[in-house]
Amino acid sequence: MNSADIRSAFLNFFASKGHQIVASSSLVPHEDPTLLFTNAGMNQFKDVFLGFDKRSYNRATTSQKCVRAGGKHNDLENVGYTARHHTFFEMLGNFSFGDYFKRDAIAFAWELLTEVFKLPKDKLTITVYAEDDEAFDIWTNEIGVPAERVIRIGDNKGARYASDNFWMMGDTGPCGPCTEIFYDHGAHIPGGPPGSPDEDGDRYIEIWNNVFMQYNRDEAGVLHPLPKPSVDTGMGLERIAAVLQGVHSNYEIDLFVALIAAAARETQTSDLDTPSLKVLADHIRACSFLIADGVIPGNEGRGYVLRRIIRRAIRHGYKLGARAAFFHRMVPDLVAQMGAAYPDLAAAQQKVMDVLRQEEERFFATIANGMDILESALAALAQGAALDGETAFKLHDTYGFPLDLTADICRERGVTVDTEGFDAAMARQKEQARAAGKFKMATALEYDGVQTTFRGYDTLEAAGKVVALYRDGAPVNELHEGELGVVVLDETPFYAESGGQVGDRGELRAAQGIFKVEDTLKIQAAVFGHHGVVGTGRIAVGDSVSARVDVRARAATARNHSVTHLMHKALREVLGDHVQQKGSLVDADKTRFDFVHTAPMSDDEIARVERIVNAEILANAATQARVMGIEDAQKSGAMMLFGEKYGDEVRVLDIGSSRELCGGTHVARTGDIGLFKITVEAGVAAGIRRVEAITGENAVAFVQRQDRLVSEAAAAFKAPANELPAKIAQVIDNVRALEKEIARLKSKLAASQGDELAAQAVAVGGAKVLAAVMEGADVPALRETLDKLRDKLGSAAIVLAAVNDGKVSLIAGVTADLIAKVKAGELVNFVAGQVGGKGGGKPDMAQAGGTQPENLPAALAGVAKWVEGKLG
Ligand code: ALA
Repeated sequence: MNSADIRSAFLNFFASKGHQIVASSSLVPHEDPTLLFTNAGMNQFKDVFLGFDKRSYNRATTSQKCVRAGGKHNDLENVGYTARHHTFFEMLGNFSFGDYFKRDAIAFAWELLTEVFKLPKDKLTITVYAEDDEAFDIWTNEIGVPAERVIRIGDNKGARYASDNFWMMGDTGPCGPCTEIFYDHGAHIPGGPPGSPDEDGDRYIEIWNNVFMQYNRDEAGVLHPLPKPSVDTGMGLERIAAVLQGVHSNYEIDLFVALIAAAARETQTSDLDTPSLKVLADHIRACSFLIADGVIPGNEGRGYVLRRIIRRAIRHGYKLGARAAFFHRMVPDLVAQMGAAYPDLAAAQQKVMDVLRQEEERFFATIANGMDILESALAALAQGAALDGETAFKLHDTYGFPLDLTADICRERGVTVDTEGFDAAMARQKEQARAAGKFKMATALEYDGVQTTFRGYDTLEAAGKVVALYRDGAPVNELHEGELGVVVLDETPFYAESGGQVGDRGELRAAQGIFKVEDTLKIQAAVFGHHGVVGTGRIAVGDSVSARVDVRARAATARNHSVTHLMHKALREVLGDHVQQKGSLVDADKTRFDFVHTAPMSDDEIARVERIVNAEILANAATQARVMGIEDAQKSGAMMLFGEKYGDEVRVLDIGSSRELCGGTHVARTGDIGLFKITVEAGVAAGIRRVEAITGENAVAFVQRQDRLVSEAAAAFKAPANELPAKIAQVIDNVRALEKEIARLKSKLAASQGDELAAQAVAVGGAKVLAAVMEGADVPALRETLDKLRDKLGSAAIVLAAVNDGKVSLIAGVTADLIAKVKAGELVNFVAGQVGGKGGGKPDMAQAGGTQPENLPAALAGVAKWVEGKLG
């Protein structure tokens, strides 16, 4: 049975038992921030189990795409080392939502395995949760499995309910005891039955897990009974395929054979048993399906897990000898295997290849240097020793080696990694970066007092009281004229940097002095530090101040922030819903916005975004800000950033037709933005684009500058502005024609040097020998001249040389009467060898190159003597 047949046999069996066949959900569980990737068939039904969601059916069956890497269920480290672990796999499952429970679930499983798939009963071993007498009883008394093959497994992972036979989706969510079915691959394979000391071997392989969903685990680890007991099962398609195809390793099933062949082809590897090929075959599946589902390699969250898998794959390719991007070329092979079952994958083929290739090119740029450093560190280590954390961190920080990649290499050498040292090095670097980034925050400020109330949504000038002052990171009571410091107020209109918007500038006026605020940053979430310098007089703790925000800078910043929301929405409209914010920086000069999108934006797309945003500006709608509960905000359709932590109360902002959660400061009406213009569109990382845009006065100044440039160019070209492109194209054509003409003349000139050169030939024996440089000649000119000289000189051995851009070109010719003794190839190499080159050709004509023009005169000077030796 091939994998496709097994997939459909499973689904059809459960359909015949009243189950609805439901499609696989995305690998990215957009609705569920507790989950990194879809890791089980039940994920898409989580809310149904919890009783929050209802379906029209209460029995379902699926074949679900799963990734187990980087989250609670993480198999990444095992891939390539066992016969049965994958980062990506397909999970076949049947589900009961408060319908049948243990008895039917077990009976269905047994029937499918022994009657449809016809597995021998004595090859199957069962485990149950130690406390689950009911399941034990069903297996032994109703199904008739001998009691010695029904093994009870208790809390074997160090905590209550932490057990191989108690399944949890994650730290929170639906969970319950489970019963697992193992297949015995035979005594010739090492490994023991479940629960025995060598259970991790490959002999007894778990093929199917039946979970009796009974509880919801909350954040405190407390289990609450579910509204109705349910069933969730999962059978790895690859594992059951191995059993049914009579092979022991998953990597020998039909789906993998083709991928291993593709990996071997791309890395030119002939030994098909190399574990690295398995890693590549596994990883191309995970990477391709993740990218097809919208994940892009990056430095955090899902993107970083993807990056780690890609880099691990590249490292294994490197180990096999690959030195340039190769991995993406396996994508068409994968699509050939799985595109029919997963049409989304087939549709995304080009995008997947592009994203992978870009990521490969990035990593190939540093991998060789990183490997050299790692190799020399490893050479100094004994077996069982640990690689120091500093080196592991340097590899991570400078050469892009994720920690688990370094660990993977170390493991091959029997060495571990000092992960604590790595963490310490990472923490130290973060601290240094923070200190360097905010020089005024040279020392982290300790604060323990009144919080700052922010007044700046409604006003730019407000009264406040100084509640703390800092100089050089230490609390002080006063700051004097000229001193740098940080001021904390109980109330302030100054916005502190957050959400991509920079902090406000301005001044604090006290009775005795003025403090100039250069930046505002949070000391703690609700404590704002005004950073700056005392301009005149002094300022003291307890002073009442009038806090005045720089109105122009704030207005310009607000324009850029508001337009960011409009632009975000317009980008999604023009490019598609996959556009997701990846970072933003808004200050008085511009907005910079990074987002997920693989291709550069076309001029037309940029123009459309500009038109949409400017239309919103012209509509001049009033901005509306409302504070509400997070759930109401979600329901209102407000755009939220995935992975961002929001409090219970959030601020929902309507600007034009956009609706986003945002704590920033904004324009009162869209018309305040003035004019919107995109100035930069570029790639910043694989799959991430960046746009920069300007508004208001900056946009006007920009347009004027562009206009002036065009006028100046028009004047220089003596053409009206609208004819400039044609005019420039014409001038470029002219220049090209002239360049060609010059090249032709040069060659002609060179050829005419032939006559002069003939006069330089010296007589050696009865023949003529000539070795000369032709200034400015290219290879065709050398050849033409050589032909002329050969005719002219009668019996001759000739070497001509030219130097262009530091490179030597050589040509040698020998007339027919001499070639018995002097071969053109030997002659040209006599010279080439002295100028760092090599060449070849026929006995009468040969060519060569060289890289050391400084040695050319001496080499040519020796030619007559060399020929004399040959002729003599
Ligand atoms: N959700 C269960 C598992 O993943 C079936 O093992």
